Amino acid sequence: MKKLLSIAIDGPAGAGKSTVAKQVAERLSFIYIDTGAMYRALTYKALLKGANLNDGRELEIVLNDTDIKLVITNGGQAVLLDGKDVSEEIRTSEVTNNVSFVARQQEVRTEMVKRQQLLAETGGVVMDGRDIGTHVMPNAELKIFLIASVEERARRRYEENITKGFEADFELLKSEIALRDKRDSEREVAPLRKAEDAIELDTTSMTIEEVVSSILHYAKERAL
Ligand code: CDP
Ligand code: CDP
Repeated sequence: MKKLLSIAIDGPAGAGKSTVAKQVAERLSFIYIDTGAMYRALTYKALLKGANLNDGRELEIVLNDTDIKLVITNGGQAVLLDGKDVSEEIRTSEVTNNVSFVARQQEVRTEMVKRQQLLAETGGVVMDGRDIGTHVMPNAELKIFLIASVEERARRRYEENITKGFEADFELLKSEIALRDKRDSEREVAPLRKAEDAIELDTTSMTIEEVVSSILHYAKERAL
């Protein structure tokens, strides 16, 4: 029997990775793995515990005692941290603005990548993040690198907040996104970078459906 495809989707914040990855996974009946949610869950727990976010050893100890599960629910996917649903808590601006510090620690990345590779063992996965094509699934049959202008990405986050009834400041969102991109791209360990064999899609003026169709088209080509 042919091994099912593995699809890696990387790119900066707000490029559309999770929205698109989820839909591609659904259409192919694949598993969707949101690696950003795993880093967010650890950041949330570390903040609660008052851990030093710049100390890789301390974070490693917290992580070794932490269970993170991505589960399917009626409405999509939930993140369980030590058995508790923290899907909403991990999206607060406090977590968002601190996650890059946690994610740059070597000890944290080594353990996270190990867990992500285990989840992807079977194939038939769509995984999104920053280092999926370069480190987590370097042999993925299909690698996509999504980009979009920082204005467009801030606009998307702004719309998202307003739709949910939250307050939003466009300029602040834009500067937070730019700062996180800078930290993620300039870190020493597994920085955000396009894999050499990845297909780059600029989604600035693409609809979600156009991006999904394009990825499905590449997936069909690879599956032949
Ligand atoms: O959805 P959004 O683009 O805002 O971010 P995310 O995918 O939830 O990822 C949150 C943060 O986790 C990123 O800014 C990175 O610092 C880190 N991350 C990472 O380092 N490596 C990954 N594979 C995924 C996320
Ligand atoms: O995961 P990532 O941070 O890369 O982005 P996302 O959370 O999937 O997408 C951010 C927002 O942009 C969502 O509200 C999407 O509905 C929206 N989006 C869009 O308007 N057009 C696209 N082509 C892709 C995403």
